[in-house]
Amino acid sequence: MAQLLITGGAGFIGSHTCLILLEAGYDLVVLDNFSNSSSESLRRVAELSKIGHEDRLKVFEGDIRSREDLDRVFFSARDGIHAVVHFAGLKAVGESLLFPLAYWDVNVGGSRTLLAAMRRHGCRTIVFSSSATLYGDPREVPITEKSKVQPINPYGRTKAAIEKMLSGYAKAEAGWRIAFLRYFNPVGAHQSGQIGESPSGIPNNLFPFVSQVAIGLRDHLQVFGGDWPTKDGTAIRDYIHVMDLAEGHRAALELLQHEEPQVLTFNLGSGQGYSVIEVIKAFEQESGRSVPYVIGARRKGDVACSVADPSYAAKCLGWRTKRSLNEMCRDSWLWQQSSPQGYLE
Ligand code: NAD
Ligand code: UFG
Repeated sequence: MAQLLITGGAGFIGSHTCLILLEAGYDLVVLDNFSNSSSESLRRVAELSKIGHEDRLKVFEGDIRSREDLDRVFFSARDGIHAVVHFAGLKAVGESLLFPLAYWDVNVGGSRTLLAAMRRHGCRTIVFSSSATLYGDPREVPITEKSKVQPINPYGRTKAAIEKMLSGYAKAEAGWRIAFLRYFNPVGAHQSGQIGESPSGIPNNLFPFVSQVAIGLRDHLQVFGGDWPTKDGTAIRDYIHVMDLAEGHRAALELLQHEEPQVLTFNLGSGQGYSVIEVIKAFEQESGRSVPYVIGARRKGDVACSVADPSYAAKCLGWRTKRSLNEMCRDSWLWQQSSPQGYLE
């Protein structure tokens, strides 16, 4: 079976995608520097997937900015690496405003070094983790792939730059198969509760924060703004269950491998928006716990509403989300209960 390189495979989305790809029969090599993850996630992935032997999931500690680390990984694959799924990178919007050069270095510099390694080793298929953040404050909702790319923070600008760099490569040299997957708001966890999102320190994102309030690690949630032009005044997002997202990667890989070389862009979201208050209510229902909150000021850089038009992905990939907001809350809660400190225990 084809062997894939998964950069950042120990992280939140990477670990769930590794599980789906192992179940689909792929052999995997993960390269991760564990700057925002733990090898424990991959140990659990191996356990959940019941892979018989270590050869199907090899793990290398290393950096995508290092030519030597990448060569080591490519040389390790006996029959070559057939495709790369590229998750590795920095992802916090607020941090990118404070340390923009780190974002250009890791995200853009790392992707450039990875691409050069792919060329050296004759691999021309890549699925890239892009983000809805590159639409900035969208002019129209739902957002289609043709909507204007106008990022409003350094993180988003690095995602837009990587897309440009990769599509430029594909124009300069024939044979590239590239998919940009623009994720909306990935949340939830595997239904076993064994793998999930393990943020270090105070979570930036809504779901991990709500989970920590529900379990009593924090006493309340601050809702960022109650005066947005939405039905209840709180901001609307398109939340996508991480297992649905993982299945989207499998669909994209299959399409790339079976069609002519091309560059494709897909919005991966559900097409359904929920307000912060609706998320809190759904989480309370699923956990049976109360989630106290106070409405505070808007967070800098936030937008009122971000919802995907997922119809192009449905048409080309035959993929659409299957899991509801309540399932996202249920699985996040299961994960929070089974591993209250994430992988740290
Ligand atoms: P994550 O931080 O959990 O995973 C990223 C992984 O990359 C981590 O395991 C980290 O240790 C690794 N990594 C970071 N820098 C590296 C380097 N220089 N070399 C090797 N490994 C490195 O994040 P995630 O939520 O799983 O996100 C995965 C990808 O999806 C990222 O590219 C992110 O920008 C993108 N994305 C995430 C979201 C989201 O809300 N989670 C939304 C849109 C896009
Ligand atoms: N929110 C709160 N309180 C919190 C945290 C979040 O009210 O403590 C609100 C935010 O204001 C926003 C919503 O909950 O309205 C969702 O916020 P998140 O931080 O969970 O997600 P964002 O939409 O801000 O951004 C996420 C990722 C980005 C990614 C983007 C689109 O963090 O990296 O989705 O994919 F680019």
